[in-house]
Amino acid sequence: TISEVLAWEALDSRGRPTVGCRVILADGASGRATVPSGASTGGHEARERRDGDPDRYGGHGVRGAVDAVRTTLAPLVIGLDAADQEAVDAALESADDDPLLGAVGANAVLAVSLATLLAAAAGSGRPLWRHVSGDAVPLLPLPMVNIVSGGAHAGRALDIQDVLAVPVGATSFAQALEWVSRVRAAAGELLAQRGGTTTALVADEGGLAGGLADNEAALALVTDAVEHAGLAPGEHVGLAVDLAANQLHDGTGYRLDGETLDAAAWRARLERWCRDYPVVSLEDVLVEDDWAGWAAATPALGADRQLLGDDLFATNAGRLRQGIDQGVANAVLVKPNQAGTVSRARAVTELARAAGYATVISARSGDTEDDWLADLAVGWRTGQLKVGSTMRSERTAKWNRLLEIEATAGPTEFAGAAALSRSLA
Ligand code: PGA
Ligand code: ZN
Repeated sequence: TISEVLAWEALDSRGRPTVGCRVILADGASGRATVPSGASTGGHEARERRDGDPDRYGGHGVRGAVDAVRTTLAPLVIGLDAADQEAVDAALESADDDPLLGAVGANAVLAVSLATLLAAAAGSGRPLWRHVSGDAVPLLPLPMVNIVSGGAHAGRALDIQDVLAVPVGATSFAQALEWVSRVRAAAGELLAQRGGTTTALVADEGGLAGGLADNEAALALVTDAVEHAGLAPGEHVGLAVDLAANQLHDGTGYRLDGETLDAAAWRARLERWCRDYPVVSLEDVLVEDDWAGWAAATPALGADRQLLGDDLFATNAGRLRQGIDQGVANAVLVKPNQAGTVSRARAVTELARAAGYATVISARSGDTEDDWLADLAVGWRTGQLKVGSTMRSERTAKWNRLLEIEATAGPTEFAGAAALSRSLA
């Protein structure tokens, strides 16, 4: 039974305020969560509440959200059974008429939802992954790891947001992480050789930023880095690209390398990149509300690779249902703070699985040192996890937790390349 809910203003990895929360149970067990925050946020995700007071943290303060935890949300959940996550989440959602939780603040709601889950796991005496998985065998996810960053995560050093490495040939999580760490180091060396003077600079998710002539050079750099690391592009390590297309659209077309491409030219460019580089996953290729464009692009771009919706689906079951019905994309990014509660995020994961869509659970560009995301990946058997680079502690917190689980949890499975969505057919 929940007996106490504490909240405070903490800092995320960008040094911006976020909501910290501890839920304490009657038997003394407790759980603490600090919520993440995006920079390239979609229009359909649950809404963070920020104070907007220019005299504190440039308007990014979250004292209002912290207050909402103490005065609005805590009374709704005190006395509830923490093990009944759905009942707790329903009580939290009832506090706001806005399904996107904008009045109370999705950052307030998620903090309580997650801290409740962690308290319940602690109270059960089991690790979080086991608490959420029931009897299922723990499934270590295939990691999708940021190597080069642009867009809103790197001062627009590139137009596209992330070029990532996916260790498709690895047979364990530990091997997967070692391979991508090698690729990251090789990419830094090659970038320095190619005239980048910024190898010490890392972007919001720990990716390399700056020093490249154009967007395609980032795909070439990562492909070459795989070889430089002694691995085979495509066979051992493939590429994933997050276009974050919302950020590229200027109202008439997609801005790339100083030009505006219309829809046909943009798609042709993506198709060529997929022919010339070992791209196994593409994310947010079009703006979030272009359902017709997405449906038209899915057969070509998604025929033999993963086509992943982030801003498109916004971890929202209604939007994912629409996508499934219209044959749009074949995989969904699951970000708990886009959903607003643990139960909503889990429901999206289950809806995707039932429809044959792949699932990639994901951190945010502004994240925290918490590691619950790793346990959710394993316990929910998402198959894939996207957390950023292999450096910066808010990123390594998740990787390190996965290394711990693989090494110590007894029999586990590693999802490997089979977790990638291959085709809609
Ligand atoms: P965000 O970026 O956390 O800034 O939204 C992550 C992503 O686009 O995948
Ligand atoms: Zn994205």
